Amino acid sequence: MCGIIGYIGGSEAVPVLLEGLRRLEYRGYDSAGVALLSGGAIEVRKAVGRIANLAEAIQQNPIHGTTGISHTRWATHGGVTLENAHPHFDASGHLALVHNGVIENYQTLRDRLIAEGHVFKSQTDTEVLAHLVGEAFEKSGDRTKEGLVGALRQALRQVIGTYGIAVIHSEIPGVLVGARRGSPLVLGIGKDEHFLASDVSAIIAHTREVVYLNDYEIAAVENDRFEISTVSGSGVDFQVSKVELSADAVDKGKYPHFMLKEIYEQPSSIRDAMRGRLSAEEATAKLGGLNMTNGELRAVDRIVLTGCGTAFHAALAGEYLIESLAHVPVECEFASEFRYRNLPMDRDTLVFAISQSGETADTLAALRESQRKGHRTLGICNNVASTIARESDGGAYMHAGLEIGVAATKSFTSQLTILTLLGLLLGRIRHLSHAEGRTIIHEMEKLPDLVAKALELDESIQRVAKKYVSAKNFLFLGRQANYPIALEGALKLKEISYISASGYPSAELKHGVIALINEETPSVFIAPQDAVFDKNISNIEEVKARKGPVIAIGTEGDTALAKICDDVILIPHAPDYLTPILSAIPLQLLSYHIAVALGCDVDKPRNLAKSVTVE
Ligand code: G6P
Repeated sequence: MCGIIGYIGGSEAVPVLLEGLRRLEYRGYDSAGVALLSGGAIEVRKAVGRIANLAEAIQQNPIHGTTGISHTRWATHGGVTLENAHPHFDASGHLALVHNGVIENYQTLRDRLIAEGHVFKSQTDTEVLAHLVGEAFEKSGDRTKEGLVGALRQALRQVIGTYGIAVIHSEIPGVLVGARRGSPLVLGIGKDEHFLASDVSAIIAHTREVVYLNDYEIAAVENDRFEISTVSGSGVDFQVSKVELSADAVDKGKYPHFMLKEIYEQPSSIRDAMRGRLSAEEATAKLGGLNMTNGELRAVDRIVLTGCGTAFHAALAGEYLIESLAHVPVECEFASEFRYRNLPMDRDTLVFAISQSGETADTLAALRESQRKGHRTLGICNNVASTIARESDGGAYMHAGLEIGVAATKSFTSQLTILTLLGLLLGRIRHLSHAEGRTIIHEMEKLPDLVAKALELDESIQRVAKKYVSAKNFLFLGRQANYPIALEGALKLKEISYISASGYPSAELKHGVIALINEETPSVFIAPQDAVFDKNISNIEEVKARKGPVIAIGTEGDTALAKICDDVILIPHAPDYLTPILSAIPLQLLSYHIAVALGCDVDKPRNLAKSVTVE
């Protein structure tokens, strides 16, 4: 949600900033802008729409300089207009600022500033922040780097909300300043150059050495040095980390879209989620990052899984998986509800916050609320060193690699894999025997190859997608752990093709949803050969009796589905607890191909952002 990148060094800033913005475009893409220090003044270029539009605006009216800040926006306050695009200026016009986050008390601050004579050009909360910093800078009379940092401190003490910001001032040309609270900001260390960015993907082409800023930290950056302090003015003992990400992680490679690339990465991302975590000898899973002894895990009598969007669907599937493998009661809560719900929880309830980005505002707030109440709260995150990963009491990284497509795919199956590992671990310290544990491990080891086989269905799924591309409404139905997969299938289709789609447990069909069935409304049934196969068949018959087209996801070797369904996609056979991972694959491909056939921008669907860092 909004991406920022700042540069200071010896090279032309524009190419670095534009390239960084392209890498960050998944965070928001309704408008973009750049501000450069140039000949003692600040030059700014902005454009509504994608980064390509900004690049064109700069090409038509070039700017040069070696210090600059830039931004790609996902609108929160104020419509998508040129005026609302960042960077924003203070009243003097000498200070430019880019911001990711939300200033919650901006209206009060804005009213006060207007009463004092400030004139605003945009409807954004960010412009208020720029004016506040500028006001403090002018009042202090200290026209040095320290003066700018002091002004920033003073402004940030007045704001309530979240921010990742980067600031430049034309009177202090050798300095770039950044700060964070609630929205991520990373400082990249180069040779005689430095970077500030919302995430490392924007800067890994230039450096692998980074400092992840913590909340309430301010970085004052020059070509060859930087200082980190806190908003309250104390020094900081920071740590320089090495980024492990490979450079091709940020490229589409041979694929037309990141989403397709990430769908195809699943055999390896699932393998990476399991790597080193399966112990054949002990017939269990090893999740050392949980920081819990077997005794502590044995004492857990209830689990709460929380997250948003796709991560919430993984949580719902996790409920089925953990309850069936470990017999521990699991409850799932949308993080946005959990944070305000005051859920009754015993001392031995263990909470997991599931988040690919590790930065989702609602999930982070749920984590903090759970910790505030004294519950051990663990994270299942993909982004290393993300806020949720750092603030949780332990957890398990997904190791899925960078996910750039806005619609989550590989992170979903990695979340399911980790939740299955958790089910195995908890089960083995309860009722599962050594032999049962061994069988589960054996099955899990086969999973990456089965996923690769499921991906071979791509061509036939593409044909099915073409057949139904003009449908205006889809239903997705499944039972047990495949019910959350139906929800996720519907979400994928909605997100990237804008077709209305709903997911339900198959049997719920007759309690209302069946009213939607007609010849134009396809139903996608997830009906593998499992304990409820016959029940699914009855539900399919109910749809067919009403002339509804049915696409079924079944198990290889099945012959029953083909007799009653219009289209059948057969995935490899696996035990019930692994089938959801396999059934998710054709649904991802189905929505991908429908969206492509409709000409939609699958990697950057309208109105969405990859990581929602505001409430
Ligand atoms: C946004 C994205 C979704 C994602 C959700 C949770 O809404 O558009 O695709 O599932 O955030 O993201 P997280 O990073 O917390 O998993």
